Amino acid sequence: MLNHLHEQPKDKILQLMQLYKDDPRDTKIDLGVGVYKDASGKTPIMRAIKAAEKQLWNEETTKSYTGLAGDPGYQDAMIGLVLGDAVPRDRVAAAATPGGTGAIHMVLETVKMANPDATVWLSTPTWPNHPSILKHLGMKTAAYRYFDEATLAVDFTGMMEDLGALKSGDVVLLHGCCHNPTGANLNLTEWAQVADLLQEKGAIPFVDIAYQGFGDGLEQDAAGVRLLAGRFDEMMIAASCSKNFGIYRERTGIVMAIAPDTATRDITQGNLAHLNRQNFSFPPDHGARLVTMILNDPALKADWMAELEEVRLGMLALRQQLADELQRLSGSDRFGFVAQHRGMFSRLGATPEQVLELREKHGIYMVGDSRVNIAGLNKDSIPILAAALLDVGV
Ligand code: LMR
Repeated sequence: MLNHLHEQPKDKILQLMQLYKDDPRDTKIDLGVGVYKDASGKTPIMRAIKAAEKQLWNEETTKSYTGLAGDPGYQDAMIGLVLGDAVPRDRVAAAATPGGTGAIHMVLETVKMANPDATVWLSTPTWPNHPSILKHLGMKTAAYRYFDEATLAVDFTGMMEDLGALKSGDVVLLHGCCHNPTGANLNLTEWAQVADLLQEKGAIPFVDIAYQGFGDGLEQDAAGVRLLAGRFDEMMIAASCSKNFGIYRERTGIVMAIAPDTATRDITQGNLAHLNRQNFSFPPDHGARLVTMILNDPALKADWMAELEEVRLGMLALRQQLADELQRLSGSDRFGFVAQHRGMFSRLGATPEQVLELREKHGIYMVGDSRVNIAGLNKDSIPILAAALLDVGV
């Protein structure tokens, strides 16, 4: 049986992690996988998470199962964090999932069950796991332009042109904030125009939000998803707590489905629970419980928000330093986009050959499309990256 299996394509981001690990040079710089690092290169456990873990250790009396859709308290807390009061709670179905990827998978499985013919539209480029999961599920996909390789900003005209071909019932995957891999984001006026177009075409938005709080702030980063939630009868959302709570390995995510009415919401809720049961029975609870404790405790929440803001401002400062250094070394403003992008990533516009040279000659690791993890930088590595970029001809 097993000899009928074919080798699977390697995930480019995870493959890069391995290449970096295997590189013996102690001058190497890791700008690959999207994991936050502080100035010393460590991925810290956030203070509020540590405090909640201590409290949980004292208070938790059982490890018995939670509900199939996870703890309802977690659903409420996360709906509040992502959607605010954009939509009445009784129209939102939700289930805890193993990480944001679990939530994406759940959204797509739900779409497939409800409308097997739906086409799911992806931005070009997008996170490589999006098309990969869709392919695994055997679903139809289409692509819309998103990024202008010349200006390294959003190609909004191209995006709207391509989405002009949407059919009723199509699903459009949008990055809630901090677009991965480009770092180029829609402004609120553009979100509203996208909403108008999707409504005109009868398409359904699906927002993947994995970096809330890493771009312009917790509330600001949710403005797009909330705008859509306030306007659409139906909408799907996948949210991750991996990055903004720093609990990557705890696999903490949530799927949300906004339904037109409470009756449809109830059926959808049952379907999300059913899907969890088919896939893995009960979702992981530890990370979800910590998140719930933090969001429901004013002191823990304030500390978490303060630390998240430090992280966000730190990344903005790194962006500015890199843009300044590139400006200084090149004598041109063509790298100004680095300071304009938001979130953990920027696509720098290097060719695959230049990316390879950066790795082989300079020990600088970035994804092949020239996506860099800004948090992988520090004040010492910024001048090294800037000089190397110019050295390879970017
Ligand atoms: C990334 O894009 O680097 C992160 O989302 C991590 C991952 O799983 O790919």
